[in-house]
Amino acid sequence: MAGTAQPLDTTPGTRRYQLFIDGKFVDSRSGKTFESISPHDQSVVAVVAEGDKADIDDAVKAARAAYEGTWSGMLPGERAKLLLRMADLIEARASDLGQLETLDMGGPLMLTTGMATMAAETFRYWAGMATKIHGLTSPSMSPGEFLGYTLREPLGVVGGITPWNGPLIMATWKTAPALACGNAVVLKPAEHTPMTALELARIVADAGVPEGVFNVVPGFGPTAGAALAQHPGVDKIAFTGEYVTGRLVVQMSTANLKTVTLELGGKSPHIIFDDVDLENAVANALFGLYTNTGQICSAGTRLLVQDTIYDRFVERFVERSRQIKVGNPLDFATRMGPLVSEEQLRKVQRYVEIGKREGAKLVCGGGQPAAPELASGFYHEPTVFADVTNQMQIAQEEIFGPVGSVIRFHDEEEAVRIGNDVIYGLAAGVQTRDLKRAHRIAKRLQAGTVWLNTWHKIEPNSPFGGYKLSGYGRENGPTMIEHLTRLKQVWVDLNEFTMDLFAM
Ligand code: NAI
Ligand code: MG
Repeated sequence: MAGTAQPLDTTPGTRRYQLFIDGKFVDSRSGKTFESISPHDQSVVAVVAEGDKADIDDAVKAARAAYEGTWSGMLPGERAKLLLRMADLIEARASDLGQLETLDMGGPLMLTTGMATMAAETFRYWAGMATKIHGLTSPSMSPGEFLGYTLREPLGVVGGITPWNGPLIMATWKTAPALACGNAVVLKPAEHTPMTALELARIVADAGVPEGVFNVVPGFGPTAGAALAQHPGVDKIAFTGEYVTGRLVVQMSTANLKTVTLELGGKSPHIIFDDVDLENAVANALFGLYTNTGQICSAGTRLLVQDTIYDRFVERFVERSRQIKVGNPLDFATRMGPLVSEEQLRKVQRYVEIGKREGAKLVCGGGQPAAPELASGFYHEPTVFADVTNQMQIAQEEIFGPVGSVIRFHDEEEAVRIGNDVIYGLAAGVQTRDLKRAHRIAKRLQAGTVWLNTWHKIEPNSPFGGYKLSGYGRENGPTMIEHLTRLKQVWVDLNEFTMDLFAM
C-alpha cells in the first residue's frame, strides 16, 4: 500500500505504540511500557513500548545492515522519490498529525498542524537535495600531471535524540537530511511526546522506504538515549535539548569518536528601540515569547526595551498578555495551551518565585489560570516581570515557559552589551525602523539567527543553530550536508610513468 494516505485515528482514548525496528513494529525486549499523558487533563493518551539498551542495539544493527545492504547503494533519484512520497503522506495527514501532537504535548492546533505542514516541506526540500550531493574537483598544484577529486560519502548510521517541544518537526530535522545524504537513522524521541515520531515510522513504511533505514526507539534519556549516544555502531549523533544533556552526549560519544551536532537552549534578546510602531512591536514580542507556551529554544524571553518607551511598552505588553486565550489546545481558537508536563509547570513556578525574590516586579500573571475546566492541566498564565536587570537568574537562565523579563536599556551600545551578556547564543532580534542600525546590530549580536522586525522565521533552506552554549553545527540548509557526510580525497597520477625516486 505504498503511497496511500490513510487517515489516522485521532479519536480520544488511549493508543498503543510499539518500537519500530527493521521495518516492523515490535515490543521492547524487556516487555516494559510507559505512559504518555495529556498535559490538558492528565488522561493517558498512549501506552508506549519502552526501549532500552538491547532495543537500541537491535535498531543500530538493523540500520547498519540496511545502510550496507540497500540504502547506500540506492540511486539518489530513488531516494528522492521516497522522500517526496513521505512529504506527500505527511501533508495528507497534517491535520491528524497536528491533532495527535496536540494531545501529546499540548501545543495549540493552529501551531501543531502548521508544524506538520512544515515537516512535509522539509522532506520535500531534502528530496530535492538528494540528487545534488557531490564532491569537487580539487585543483592540483601540478595540473596535467595529477588529478584530485573528492567523493562525498554518507556517514552510515545517524542517531537522533529529540526533545518534547516540537516532536514532529524535531524528528523531521533529524531524519529528512540524514536520509537524503544516504544515511540510515535511529531516532530516540522524548519520553514525554513519542506519538508523532512513531506516526512518522508508519509513514516511512507506507512510503516504501526499505526496512531498517529508519528506526524509532522511544524510551528514557539515561537508558535508551545514553545507549544510542554511546553505541560504537553509530557514526553521528544529532541532539536537541538542554545543554547539560548535550555535554553528556559529547562525553558519551568519545569511545568511537562519533561526530555530534548540538542544538541547545537559549535566552534570546529581543531589542526594541523607541522608533518602532508600539502596537506592532508588542505584537511581535508576544509572538516571540508566548508561541508554544514559551517552550521554544529560540523564544524571545529577554525583552530589552529602550528607556524612552519602557513604561508605555510594559503597560501595553501586559494588557495584551492578559487577553491571550489560554485553554484547551484542541480548541482551534486557543492561542496558548498548557505546559508539557507537571515537571515543566513546577520549573516555571520555581522561576516565578525566584524572580520575586530577586526583586523583579511581577506585573502580569504568575500563577495558574482560575478557569475550573483547566484545573487538572499543566496550565500557567502569561507572566511578565518588569524592572529586571540582566544579572538576575530569570534573565540568565532558560525557563522554557510563558515568562518574559523586560529589561531597560539606554542606547545601542548598552543594548548590544546586555544582549550578548548571557551564556547562550541561539537567536536574537531587533525592532527598529532605522535600517543602518538594524544591520549594524545584526552583525554584533552573538547568535546563530538574528531576526530584524520579525521573530520565529525558520525555513528548511536556512541554517539554524547556536553560538556559545546554544550548541554547534547547523540544522536545515545546504551546510547541513557537511555534518551528514564525509569527504574522501582521491589522487590520480596522469603521467605515463611514475617518477622513480628510489632509482640508484
Ligand atoms: P533533555 O535535554 O533532558 O532531553 C532532551 C532529549 O535528550 C530527550 O529525548 C531525552 O530523553 C534525552 N536525554 C536525556 N538525558 C539523556 C542522557 N543522559 N543521554 C542521552 N539522552 C538523554 O531536556 P528535558 O529534560 O526534556 O527538558 C529540560 C529542560 O531543557 C527544559 O526545561 C528546557 O529548559 C530545556 N529544553 C530545551 C530544548 C531546546 O530545544 N533547546 C528542548 C527541550 C528542553
Ligand atoms: Mg504526553
